[in-house]
Formats: sequence, structure tokens, C-alpha cells
Amino acid sequence: MNFLLVTDLDNTLVGEDTTLLRLNQKLLANRDRLYLIYATGRSYALARQLQEEQNLIEPDYWLTGVGTEIYRKDERDPEWAERLSQDWNRDSVAAIASGFPDLILQPETEQNPWKLSFLIDSERADTVLANLQALITQAGLRAQIIFSNDEDVDILPKNGDKGLAMTYLREKLGIPPEKTLVCGDSGNDISLFQQNTLGLIVSNSRSELLAWYRLCGESRHYRSRARFAGGILEAIDHFKLMPPSE
Ligand code: GLC
Ligand code: MG
Repeated sequence: MNFLLVTDLDNTLVGEDTTLLRLNQKLLANRDRLYLIYATGRSYALARQLQEEQNLIEPDYWLTGVGTEIYRKDERDPEWAERLSQDWNRDSVAAIASGFPDLILQPETEQNPWKLSFLIDSERADTVLANLQALITQAGLRAQIIFSNDEDVDILPKNGDKGLAMTYLREKLGIPPEKTLVCGDSGNDISLFQQNTLGLIVSNSRSELLAWYRLCGESRHYRSRARFAGGILEAIDHFKLMPPSE
């Protein structure tokens, strides 16, 4: 294998049918030379549903629930589950969060043993999330808060997010960081860019990711001109990871 592609689904891989089709064809033509990982905020069930609806090609691994779960075929990685369970007290985090009426619980399917997810009004987010983080820290809990899409709030273990899950797999697969491309559009993708691989920020990215990129972006991060899967095609050419597109 000489290349690892890790991509977010909603509004990164998925969003524009024509370029998705072109990218799928290119990936299939090079399938024996690459590992493919989907990294999404969705639960495994909802991610599989999107795969059906959008005809997404079968990846080698799924990082679901913002990297709190790793699946290969339909099996959850027990070692990753074990790692995240250390130093994680979901009930205490939930008790603190329940004191914030601005946090509206997401559906049960989007909750998992290492992920509590809520919706919030974007105008209230800055203040509420700062207070929530302060209480979590004061209580000595090792949890992180991730804000995405101007409304989603995920509370996860400190040692579990898309970026850490990606590095765990990348090292297992033995692919070097300079042969790994991570792609995303929103806040829950920031952790992917904080690892040491190549990165693509699609042109249709959300404000929270663009704000992070302005402050922390590096030369190994590429902002495409094209949107969605078109951006992934552009980045593959930019970093010369596969033979150029005709
Ligand atoms: C997906 C998940 C949701 C999460 C959001 C942002 O939409 O379904 O639970 O909050 O991604 O990570
Ligand atoms: Mg997305």
C-alpha cells in the first residue's frame, strides 16, 4: 500500500454528485494501492445509511461518532474501546451537561458510550461552551468539547477524537504521515489536521474550521478551490499522491 486517504463524509466527500462519481472512479482504479478510511460524526448505523444513499465505495475502516468508534466491516475495534474507557466517566459528564438548559440532547442513535451529543443555538454557543468546559475541568474530568456546523456539540474523552483515531490506525497500517491525506470541512475535523499528515480543507468549509486554519494552518494543509469531492481530487493532484487525472 502506498497511500492512505481519510475523509469526512457530510459536506466533504458527499455534497456534489458529479465530482463524487469522478473521485469514486479514480479511487476504484487505484484501490489496490490505497487504504480508505471514512471519518464521520455520524453513528455507524447512520454512516452505513449514507453509504447506501450515495453509493459510497466500501472503505477499509470507519471512524464513527467523531472517532469514538472504529469499525472494520461490522466489527468494533475492542482495543480502541478499551483505550477510551480509561479515565472516562460518562455519567459525571452527563450530570454536568444536564445543568445547561441551552443544550438540547440529540437523538439516542447519536449517543454512544464515549460520546454525548447536543444541539445548541449558535448565538449562545461561545458562552455556554466556555462555562461547560470550566465545570468539566474543575471537576477533574478528562473530556473535550467539539463544536461543529454552528449547532452540534459533542463531548468526548480527551484521548478520543477523529485525529487520534486516525493516527492509531495509520500507525497500525504502517503508512507514513507524508503518504496520508486527511480531508474535512467542519469543527469535528480540526483534530485530523492537528496530527502530522497532509490535509485538505475543502473550499466549502464551515466558519469554525476556516477560523482554525487562519490561526494554525501549515504548509502541509491545502485549501482547495473546488468544493466537496472536487476538492479531494484537486488535493490528490496537488500532493501528487496518484497518477494525475486526465
Ligand atoms: C454528525 C452526528 C452528530 C454530531 C455531528 C458533529 O451529524 O450525527 O451526532 O454532533 O456529526 O460532530
Ligand atoms: Mg462534514
